[in-house]
Order: sequence, then C-alpha cells, then structure tokens
Amino acid sequence: MKIAVIGTGYVGLVQGTCLAESGNDVVCIDKLADKVEGLKQGKIPIYEPGLAELVHRNYRDGRLKFTTELAAGIADAEIVFIAVGTPQGDDGGADLSGVWAVGRQVAEALQSPKVIVIKSTVPVGTNAELTRRMKEVAKVPFDVANNPEFLKEGAAIEDFNKPDRIVIGVRRPEVAESLHELYAPFLRTDRPFLVMSPESAEMTKYVANCLLATKISFINEMANLCEAYKADVNDVRRGIGHDQRIGFHFLHPGVGYGGSCFPKDIRAVIHMAQTRGLESRMMLAVDEVNEAQKQVLVRKVTEHFKGDLAGKTIGVWGLAFKPRTDDIREAPALVLIDALLAQGAQVRVHDPEAIPNVRAIYGDKIVYCDRPYGAVEGADALVIATEWNEFRNPDFEIIKRLLHQPVVFDGRNVFDPERMVELGFTYHGVGRLV
Ligand code: UGA
Repeated sequence: MKIAVIGTGYVGLVQGTCLAESGNDVVCIDKLADKVEGLKQGKIPIYEPGLAELVHRNYRDGRLKFTTELAAGIADAEIVFIAVGTPQGDDGGADLSGVWAVGRQVAEALQSPKVIVIKSTVPVGTNAELTRRMKEVAKVPFDVANNPEFLKEGAAIEDFNKPDRIVIGVRRPEVAESLHELYAPFLRTDRPFLVMSPESAEMTKYVANCLLATKISFINEMANLCEAYKADVNDVRRGIGHDQRIGFHFLHPGVGYGGSCFPKDIRAVIHMAQTRGLESRMMLAVDEVNEAQKQVLVRKVTEHFKGDLAGKTIGVWGLAFKPRTDDIREAPALVLIDALLAQGAQVRVHDPEAIPNVRAIYGDKIVYCDRPYGAVEGADALVIATEWNEFRNPDFEIIKRLLHQPVVFDGRNVFDPERMVELGFTYHGVGRLV
C-alpha cells in the first residue's frame, strides 16, 4: 500500500519504517529540513534498538522516503498517518497545535479521497474536531480515523511487529478495512483487531496509560510502607503476584515513572476531567505519588550523609528514564542530580546511551564517564537510577576499591540486599529488607 507518515519523531519514524519493512511504499514527512536531510544520510535522531538497520535497508531499497514537502509527500498515499507531538500545554492539557496545523495542510493538499489516521495521543474529541476543521478546507471527501500506539521505548520494533491488539476508531466501519489490510501481517491469530468509535479509541489509549501508571504509583507507595514496617516488597510482590487477578507485571517499585508518555498523559486526563466539571482523584493521586517518589533517592542519600552533602561526590549509574533508550524526558535521575548539585555535592555519571542528552542540560556542572567504574572513582556513594542490564552483575570488589565508602543506593532494586551486606556494603534499596 502507499502510505504517508507526518512527523518523524519516535512514533512516526518507527511506524513508517516498520510499514516499509513489511513491503509498503512509505513517505515520511517532517517540516524540519535538518532532520530529513540527516535521515536521508542514515542519521537516526533517537536511539532505539534495531531501528537504524531497518531505516538504512528500507531507504536503500526505495520503500522508505523522507521529505519536507507535505503536499507532494501525501499525493499518492491511500492512508496518511499524523504522528506529530502533543506535548503538555500550559494548562496541563495536551497542546494540539501541531495536529491542527498538519490537518489543515493535509486538507489543503487533498487531491483524492484518503484515510487520515491520528496516531498521536490526543484528548477525546480530537478526531471529531479535526474532521470538522478539515471539512472547512478540503475539496474532496476524506475520513479521519484514530489508531493509538502502544509501543514501549526500547522495545518499539518488537511491539510494532507483535502487537497485543490493534485499536481503530472510526465513524464508518468500512474505513477500518484498509487499516485491517495494512496491519494483518502483524496480527498473530490470537490477537484482536478492535474497531470502535473514535472517542472510545482515543479514550482507550489514555485508560491504558492511566492504569499502567497507577500500578507503578501503587507499588511505590506499598514499597515505602514495607520499608517503614520492615517488610520486603519483593517478597510481598511474590506473595500477591501468583493471584491471577493481580499478576507480576508492571509492579516493580523504583524511583517513579518518567518518559514522554505517562506524566503527560496522566495530566491530560486530569485536565480532560476538569474540562467536564469532574475531578480525577485517582490520577491526581497517581501523579502526586510519582512526584514524591522521584525524591526517594534524594531523601535516602541526604539522610545517610546527615544532611551534609557539601564536598561529597556521588556516582550515578543510569540517566535515561528507563533502559534501552537515550530518552531523558522527565527522567527521575535528573531530579536526583538537581538536588545533589543544589546541596553542594559533586556528581559523576554514567549511562550507556543518554550522556549526550544529559550533557546538553548540565554542561560542565557534572562529570561524564564512559565506563560505569569511572563514575564510582573517588565517590562517597553509588546510586543506581536506571536498571540497564550492564549494571546487574558488576565486579563489586572493584566498586568497593574505587568508592571512598562502600555505600550503594539502589533505586531500581537491581541487587540482592543480603549479598550486598555480605560483600560489606551499606545498602539502600526501595522497600527492601536489609
Ligand atoms: C509507555 C507504555 O508502556 C506504552 O504502552 C505506551 O505506548 C507508551 O507509554 C506511550 O504512551 O507512548 P514507555 O513510556 O516507553 O511506554 O515506557 P514504560 O516501559 O511503560 O515505562 C515508563 C516508566 O515507568 C519508566 O520510567 C519505567 O522505569 C517505569 N516503571 C515501569 C516502573 O517504575 N516500574 C514498573 O514496574 C514499570
């Protein structure tokens, strides 16, 4: 099929590339000339495992094209995906200016009937409003559909190729047929293609992220309680997870959720509720618990050093909001670094992918280390803020030798507390019994 994808951010680039990989002709469109030029030369603006190889191959074989020209780019397309950003606006709601601007350009450029699919996460009612706005401009008929994405950063290609489900929101069910044809190669036999109204599809995306974020804030609150009462949250997790209704997934306590989705989407839902005169008490609490959880490491480090961090050096492993990405948006590690610097500590950091992004924020205020052990050298404590696999089994003797004091704050519960104590470390986990 002939496909156009507008917006070469995380969602658009993965969408366009994976559709090209399955044999479609895809044009990816972005207004940023530098980005488009870079993509043509094989420069991938984000780190996502497996993406670079797919972009290179499909671009080389001519199935994937990049352009800044929206009108020409969509001319032949049967389906046009809109995958532009919907960042948090000043009022907490999603800022839709990108969606409206692109919708208008698409409407002006339409020469033949097409299906316009909103891939961006948008508040309920956006499909209807976009249809209304485009109808004022377009000279040919078109349909607007909603197709929320459920990709996880760091596993996006796999998630795209093996979706748990595809959700399509349409006003006329027949519009979903071309989308079914497009996604059929990816749907395993036991996975559904769900067709519903645009409003339900828009809502589905938010409800999924709200429930996932709720699980994290819930287990974080329980972990803090475990700590206060000398219970071990890992044992508790095992104790509850075998109940089929509860399960084990997405119940890992830590330093709070970050990233470009959960914080923004939870606040968008709070705003959506307020707009209808409602109050989302649950989401207000989820957000509040998460903001507090981002301070957990700060509190533990400050308490350990009795409030005196001036002149101390803290080594930090992991800066990205989660492993296998270079994304540092709303990353808990940044909250920690800010607090450490504000209290006069020196900070040495290591992350396998995110250092260039962190350097752009902190410049020479902190020390960047290529290797994990570099961040520990001469430090008074080691803090784990992101659970990259390469941190799971380090040489603890080296760490002990390099640290001034053998103190580890494990914000992701990567290490076994008993073993750490046996090895001679003062160990602080999240909700763990030491
Ligand atoms: C999330 C959803 O998982 C995707 O389904 C969704 O498509 C995406 O948002 C989106 O809306 O675009 P993502 O932000 O890539 O994906 O990352 P997650 O793997 O969900 O992790 C989010 C945050 O929660 C991370 O900071 C992670 O460290 C934290 N987390 C996750 C925990 O603290 N504990 C857990 O048990 C799981």
